[in-house]
Amino acid sequence: MAIKNRTVEVFDDLSTLSQAAVVQFVELTHWAIGQRDRFWACLSGGTTPRLLFQSLTQPPFAGMLPWDKMFFTWGDERLVPPDDPESNYGLAERELFSQVNVPAENIYRIRGELPPNQAVAEFTGRLQQVADPGLNWPRLDLVLLGLGADGHIASLFPGSDPALGADVPALATTGHYQGRPAGRVTLTPAVFNTARHVLFLVSGAEKAEAVAGSLRGADDPLRWPARRIRPDAGEVTWLIDSAAASLLE
Ligand code: 6PG
Repeated sequence: MAIKNRTVEVFDDLSTLSQAAVVQFVELTHWAIGQRDRFWACLSGGTTPRLLFQSLTQPPFAGMLPWDKMFFTWGDERLVPPDDPESNYGLAERELFSQVNVPAENIYRIRGELPPNQAVAEFTGRLQQVADPGLNWPRLDLVLLGLGADGHIASLFPGSDPALGADVPALATTGHYQGRPAGRVTLTPAVFNTARHVLFLVSGAEKAEAVAGSLRGADDPLRWPARRIRPDAGEVTWLIDSAAASLLE
């Protein structure tokens, strides 16, 4: 099934992919602030976005961005404290927020140090306080998503019911990480699909099967959760390096 408003771009490697990502990030920031005087970004975790975060703190990009008008949240978080090496917030704090002046009140992190259901309730409560009309959360200008080798996005794992999270903004889930169960909190397709732009960043040969399953062949959202990402009125762009794209025709 052709998915409208979807673009796939292939790059030599993670470095050139990240350079394209930072340009898109800056362009979307300027566009959003020009329209609504604020920019809502939903960051991904894992390792892929690290270069993008680092680039945003360097000239010329850091000086181009009105950090005080930028708001940040996360697509998912591990249920660990923010200073834990596994924390997605911690990655962004070390690589981005420690280098630029984003007001603390503009950062809507998932409090991974709390018990799962309390973390979900606190997070969704904060999002509701800044919700856009008709929604229980803000309409995000940019959602960054990675892709696991198994095909997971955020903390929505293959085999989890596609109806899961269809009408709630966040869920507590369990990921199987390095062979052990890991508590997670994740935003859901309900939120992702109200975004104005979703940007997938995918690098590495180990992702090739998940890229092919997510972009080509039968539409199987149970097996490939990325297929649940269909913004009603938004764009989806996949920035993929050649190793991760190796199974695409
Ligand atoms: C997480 C991420 C997750 C990530 C993929 C890809 O909490 O791990 O949000 O969805 O984007 O697992 O991770 P890498 O970028 O490390 O390959």
